[in-house]
Amino acid sequence: MSAHVLITEPIIKSVIDDLRADFTVDVGQRGEFNTEEQLVEVIGKYDALLPMLSNPVTKKVIEAGDNLKIIANHAVGYNNIDLDAAKKAGIKVANTPDVLTEATADFTMGLLLSVARKIGPAQNYLRDGNFDGWEPLGFLGKELNGQTLGIFGMGRIGTAVARRARAFGLEIRYHNRNKVSAGLHDELDATYVSSLQELAEKSDFLSLHCPLTEETHHAINKKIINSMPDNAILINTSRGPVIDEAELAKALHEGCIAGAGIDVFEEEPAVHPKLMSAPNCVITPHIASATHQSRKAIGRLAANAIRGVLEEKPDAAISNLLPL
Ligand code: GLV
Repeated sequence: MSAHVLITEPIIKSVIDDLRADFTVDVGQRGEFNTEEQLVEVIGKYDALLPMLSNPVTKKVIEAGDNLKIIANHAVGYNNIDLDAAKKAGIKVANTPDVLTEATADFTMGLLLSVARKIGPAQNYLRDGNFDGWEPLGFLGKELNGQTLGIFGMGRIGTAVARRARAFGLEIRYHNRNKVSAGLHDELDATYVSSLQELAEKSDFLSLHCPLTEETHHAINKKIINSMPDNAILINTSRGPVIDEAELAKALHEGCIAGAGIDVFEEEPAVHPKLMSAPNCVITPHIASATHQSRKAIGRLAANAIRGVLEEKPDAAISNLLPL
């Protein structure tokens, strides 16, 4: 009998078809497995799980996974998975690095430009029938050239954002656990800043690219937000809980910072009501990696890890297993 795989919701069809050639694959409905209970109920019968970042793969779920051998997240971030529980249960975990880097970096620049140049409100103004001809003082925004972009988290995505930002004439400062290599430093002409506080104080734009961990949870809190220049713009395409969303909403309403571009939220799919109504804020539904190319590659990479583990390949032959 072939091994059982659960893909928690529909993903790119060719990825599902490839797995179906060799395994028994069930595909959940959209949102069906967004709670622990729903996963606990069914997980016992599966050898492999391909969850979305919205599925809580908790200790309880993992302990109920009697046959589970691999959890291959359909995302690069894996804060939805209890890694300690997986390690304890001898279950392997994979994520999808690299394949969404460029898409996410493109989108980050899109958010940054759209907030800086007021594209959202300007479009609404035009659609509402208010455009009465070119005006010298309408929708004046912030130019990128010569400004400073602070990057919190200089991993793959932070670096890809920095490369794009250099082409727009932005100067790069960053804060990260480690300094980047000397070669990359030179390429980006980047300045390492030893604290997030200092980065916030000295950045015209601040973009977040760190993973969500206990350490980064609410890293962007009231104190950090208040220390940003009042003409600064905050961009988040990492994970919602890195920002204290209520404090950000308050800061935007009070004009403590000039704007924000936010793709990820603390309690997805909920968005803080005050952020919904905040001025100068572009909010999008967690779509930074949403390109055909990227989502196909994400699916393939996750599926390859499942195939590798179920076919008992050595760990070293599976590029995207997390070291547990
Ligand atoms: C998307 O948010 C991801 O982590 O891949």
